[in-house]
Amino acid sequence: MKIKISPSMLASDYANLETELKKCSAADFIHLDVMDGHFVPNISIGAPVIAAMKKVCAIPFDVHLMISQPLRYIDDFADAGADIITFHTEADSDIGKTVDKIISRGCKAALAVKPNTPVEAVYPYLDKLSMVLVMTVEPGFGGQSFMESTMPKITALRKKCPDIDIQVDGGINTDTVKIAAEAGANVFVAGSAVFKSSDPGRTIHILKESARL
Ligand code: DX5
Ligand code: ZN
Repeated sequence: MKIKISPSMLASDYANLETELKKCSAADFIHLDVMDGHFVPNISIGAPVIAAMKKVCAIPFDVHLMISQPLRYIDDFADAGADIITFHTEADSDIGKTVDKIISRGCKAALAVKPNTPVEAVYPYLDKLSMVLVMTVEPGFGGQSFMESTMPKITALRKKCPDIDIQVDGGINTDTVKIAAEAGANVFVAGSAVFKSSDPGRTIHILKESARL
C-alpha cells in the first residue's frame, strides 16, 4: 500500500495558515479537524476556514468531521473543497445516507471509529468507502498519547481489505508510525509531530520513511 502522510492543521499556527500549508508540500493529504463542541468537548474550525485554505493549497483535503450531525453539513464541506470527508460511526446521522451524500457530491467517503468502537462497525459500508480511520486517541484534542491497544483493529481490517486506505490519527510520531504501519495502516495523520518540530517539511519526509517497513 502507498504510504501517505496527512499533517493535521490543528497543531499549526492558525494566524498563518498559508505559511503553514506551504511547509506541507511533501504531504499527500492535508488533515482538517472539524469539532462541534458536542460530539467532542472541543470546538475548532468550520467550512469557511477550509474554503479559504483551499484557495492557497493544491494538496487534497482530508476533512475529519468530529460532529454529531455530519449529514446536515456535507454540502458545506463539499462546497468548501473537501476531497475526502470522514465522519464517525458514533455520530447521530444515518451512516448509509451520509456515505451516499458524500459520494453524490463527488467526494471520497471515509468512516472513523473511536478507540472503544469495534472496527466491525464500518464493515457494512466498506464497498463504498475509500478509507477507514482507526482513531489512536480519543478524538477531541491534539497532543495525546498513541493507544497501541487499537492496533488489533487495524490488523483485522487489513486482513479483510488488502486494498483500502487505513488511516491512523492521534499520537503519531516517528516511533509510533512504525507500530501502526506494522499493523497495516498506510495513511498517517500527524499534528504535533509535524508542526511542533523545528522543520515540518523534513519531519513529513522522516515520517514517510519511518512508515516503510
Ligand atoms: C484529534 C484529531 C487529530 C489531532 C492529532 O481528535 O483528530 O487529528 O490533530 O494530533 P496529534 O498528532 O498531535 O496527536
Ligand atoms: Zn483528526
